[in-house]
Amino acid sequence: MKKLLKIVGIIVGGIVAILACVALWIAFTDLPTFESKSIAVTIPTDSAELHVGKVIVEERCAYCHLGDDGKLSGRQFSRAGDPFGEFWSRNITQDKEHGIGNYSDGQLAYLLRTGIGRHGNFIGPWMSSPLLSDKDLGAIIAYLRSNSPIVQPSATERKKTEYNFLVRALVKLGAFKPLEYTGTPVVTPSPENTVPYGKYLATARYQCYECHSKSFETNDVYVPEKSPGYFGGGNEISDKEFKIFITPNITMSKLHGIGSWTKEQFIHAVKTGEKPNGKVLSPAMPRLHAVDDTELSAIWDYLQTIPVIDVPVQK
Ligand code: HEC
Ligand code: HEC
Repeated sequence: MKKLLKIVGIIVGGIVAILACVALWIAFTDLPTFESKSIAVTIPTDSAELHVGKVIVEERCAYCHLGDDGKLSGRQFSRAGDPFGEFWSRNITQDKEHGIGNYSDGQLAYLLRTGIGRHGNFIGPWMSSPLLSDKDLGAIIAYLRSNSPIVQPSATERKKTEYNFLVRALVKLGAFKPLEYTGTPVVTPSPENTVPYGKYLATARYQCYECHSKSFETNDVYVPEKSPGYFGGGNEISDKEFKIFITPNITMSKLHGIGSWTKEQFIHAVKTGEKPNGKVLSPAMPRLHAVDDTELSAIWDYLQTIPVIDVPVQK
């Protein structure tokens, strides 16, 4: 009996010692770094494509990066008590010291594909997509380099994100990692074919599916339509005051989605936040004022073709 207890004691002690070592390794050793690359990117000069860059940056990047000085100088994005801890989006104005003035176009392009920053650090998946077309990628960079007031140098220094234990563990164990970069050319579908064009807009250019599917953690960034609860809502989004909203189902379910809306009502709601029933959406839903009606019309056409999710939003 005594011998058995001794053996059990040694095994339990051994497990505790191993767990303690893993915890120390997660908490105190350096996070992995990756090869930082500069990839080929064409910066457009035609006015239509430059306009696309302006809309993406002003409607999508500004949602997370607009600071209190009216420039893309960054803001607090989550709080210390949140599961992933305190995150700050960074200063992405042209300032060389505090912003991205020292990034080359190719380094920015690589970050927007993979999430890897210019020092080889993994910055997170927030603004990276393998599906964004090469033209749109170039257009974003063109706008970040333009003379628009929101990207002019801001010397505001934002707090650097300190990863908490959970995020460090996810990075170290490889669950939270850069996106794969293949270098395969990505082309914007032609606006004439509204369904594939709408799919591109809803999954790559404006990433509607990311917020409107079940969870960021289960979204499939490479094949969005494989994301659980694709467009069925249920994801948690916080507004600037950190109030949590659960995204609604925007599939064509008449009972639980937007199946009884008209195309005009949809376009109006996405641009202004006003729903057909007169209610106003919270700022957790971006106001896509500057997005063209033909683009929103194509997104609507695409939403007609995806599987309807006919159950109430789960959370
Ligand atoms: C959902 C929120 C979100 C959106 C949308 C977003 N970002 Fe970010 N971005 C962040 C966060 C958070 C960080 C900082 C992460 C960290 O510190 O670990 C960041 C960091 C960056 C950095 C790194 C800067 C540096 O100092 O290395 C760049 C560049 C950047 N974002 C550009 C963009 C661009 C361009 C867009 C639009 C295409 C965009 N972001 C959209 C949240 C976002
Ligand atoms: C950053 C996350 C986010 C993104 C990106 C986003 N949405 Fe939303 N959306 C929300 C949230 C949160 C709500 C609910 C807000 C509320 O309850 O007040 C919402 C509400 C809506 C509604 C109202 C549905 C209803 O029944 O009330 C529609 C329609 C909608 N979004 C369409 C879109 C489209 C189309 C896109 C892409 C062009 C998009 N959303 C991108 C977060 C997002």
